[in-house]
Amino acid sequence: MLARSLVLVGLGLFTLAFAEGRVINILDPGTAYNREVSRLLVWVMWFAAFVSIVVIGALIYTVVKFRKRPGQEGEPPQIHGNDRLEVWWTAIPLVIVLVIFGLTAQSLVRLSKPPLDAMKIEVTGHQFWWDFNYPELGIRNSNELIVPVGKPVHLVVTSVDVIHSFWAASLVGKQDAIPGVKINLSFTPEKEGNYYGQCAELCGASHSNMRFRVLVVSQEQFDRFVAGAKNFQPPALADANTQKGETLFQQNCASCHTVKGTASQGKIGPDLSFYGNRTTLGSGIWEGKDKDALLEAWIRNSPGVKPGSKMPPFPGLKDEDVKAIASYLNGLKIEGLDFSKLPKF
Ligand code: CUA
Repeated sequence: MLARSLVLVGLGLFTLAFAEGRVINILDPGTAYNREVSRLLVWVMWFAAFVSIVVIGALIYTVVKFRKRPGQEGEPPQIHGNDRLEVWWTAIPLVIVLVIFGLTAQSLVRLSKPPLDAMKIEVTGHQFWWDFNYPELGIRNSNELIVPVGKPVHLVVTSVDVIHSFWAASLVGKQDAIPGVKINLSFTPEKEGNYYGQCAELCGASHSNMRFRVLVVSQEQFDRFVAGAKNFQPPALADANTQKGETLFQQNCASCHTVKGTASQGKIGPDLSFYGNRTTLGSGIWEGKDKDALLEAWIRNSPGVKPGSKMPPFPGLKDEDVKAIASYLNGLKIEGLDFSKLPKF
């Protein structure tokens, strides 16, 4: 029974770590933050091993030495108190806790100073998606945070409704997103990749579906993104179907969603200006083939595929209407950007 449970737990952890071909690792040496975490973990593990050996050793010694021997009657002589022993078992844990405290404080101080030249990005949690605003660049994107490799970023994390938690495990530690409070978090990504992110604070029906991605791209790709996004104009509408999609989008979706450079300027839902460049759908839930396969189901009935989604269903839309809107959305992109080949973490 125990062996079977252990195997199951092991399999579960394995699946988690390699979900979708990803290697999600809080000890990933790709950022200074995770290197500090690894360093602390090594210290804590050595102390834990030392404590285990001392406690288990003392237990075994006591059991063997004071075991009942043949011919012994009644209780053995009782011992009350031992000042020397009590001083030791108070002093040693105190020293261990102080050492761990000192190392942790050192790490916290090192990581708490945002680099002076860091790019500021406002991160806002919503039920159940993420918004990323670049105030210095005049750019907004939702659910996928795009940053250049090797440059420090300074996130200002907050929420508009309940408490969420921003967590891109292979890059940086969790940070709660609290309504009315702005909390700083900074890190410098060191290798390009498509990093998995997850809300890490129970926030409602689709907490587990409140995901995101951090796309760490080359400086050249980032500059292209910034140039394309700053004065974004949607590409010319390819055909009559896509034109119909735009009209339907303006009628049904524009009060909640923004598409830069058009009459759609809603602020309630995610910004869809560069939807065609996204690698995921539904705030990081579906990627690759699933992203395309589920877009129509999403438009038709979002709460049907993501419980608790605040986007209402649109039972009035006919199949061809939904297809037209999907075609319009897929066409919204900055040319020359392809994030699908980034290695996954
Ligand atoms: Cu947002 Cu959990």
